[in-house]
Amino acid sequence: MSVLTTIEEIRAKARDGLAEVRNDAELETWRVAVMGRKSPLMSALRSLGKLGPEERKEAGRAANLLKTQLDQALEEKRETLGRARIEETETAGRIDVTLPARPLPEGRLHPVTQTQRDIVDAFVAQGFSVIEGPEVELEYYNFEALRIPADHPARELMDTFYIDRSGDTDSKLLLRTHTSPNQIRFMENNDPPVRIICPGRTYRNEATDPSHEWMITQTEVLAVDEGLTLAHLKGTLFELAKRLFGRDRKVRFRCDFFRFVEPGVDMAIDCFLCGGKGCRTCKKEGWIEILGAGMVHPEILANMGYDPDIYTGFAAGLGVERIAMLRYGVDDIRHFYENDLRFLRQF
Ligand code: DAH
Repeated sequence: MSVLTTIEEIRAKARDGLAEVRNDAELETWRVAVMGRKSPLMSALRSLGKLGPEERKEAGRAANLLKTQLDQALEEKRETLGRARIEETETAGRIDVTLPARPLPEGRLHPVTQTQRDIVDAFVAQGFSVIEGPEVELEYYNFEALRIPADHPARELMDTFYIDRSGDTDSKLLLRTHTSPNQIRFMENNDPPVRIICPGRTYRNEATDPSHEWMITQTEVLAVDEGLTLAHLKGTLFELAKRLFGRDRKVRFRCDFFRFVEPGVDMAIDCFLCGGKGCRTCKKEGWIEILGAGMVHPEILANMGYDPDIYTGFAAGLGVERIAMLRYGVDDIRHFYENDLRFLRQF
């Protein structure tokens, strides 16, 4: 058999073999079989020396040409396999843009924030402006200026977190136990008439239970003008209750005592859980107190430079969490700040 025929056979076999190759490993096997040291092509090249000069020239050219062609074919196949691999991974991870988008988790406001905003709206609609005051407060504003002197039992009712107890009442620092100090802060710097509310956080070193937390949100209300009476106070708060709870909720006013008002009252709403029969949340009372209020003590007005013979005022302090409990039917105030997403996602 002539070398040329052998070369043609090798070419044909190699072509068929390459067509079968489906991956890199098979390609390597093919390369060793076709071009390796023990391959027929290599033996053919080695046997060229035994041929006569004419025949050697021709066979040598043919064999070298085949070698080059096979090298080329090998490279091409390698590329084809590589491209196929990339395409495969792309198809596997391909995004179908026609599918509906996955919903993004939607953020929302904390139920206490929602309630706080509704409270603010109810007062703004009645002509009040919003002010803010410091959470770290001077003892003077939190107590003294509100007629709660050092030895007075009313201080004990508000178990206070002190920050700095040194010095006198003008320098002692505490976490405000209520938002009432802002009544003083505002009146100190403004002349009547006054119509403000002050929302914010307050702190008490308190044993917690279903209706008590050591941090609660309050909203302070203060109005001072000529001729304001308890009727104005009630009217303003009835309007608030109507906006927050609708007309069907029962509202109760009772006499209460706060050092900075005279007379003082508190307002309660009938318990959402038991409908007034008495349960754990309302402490068997059937009512849940949501605010303290009253007519600003004339002594305070006088201290602020407001003539108590001309001006009268009403004030109130709302418990925002209590109101949120009533609105949403939450039976334990502690849920609000436990940060349990199962709770928070309901609002
Ligand atoms: N500051 C009082 C408290 O936290 C609530 C309060 C009662 C505020 C009567 C008032 C008020 O403005 O007039 O217990």
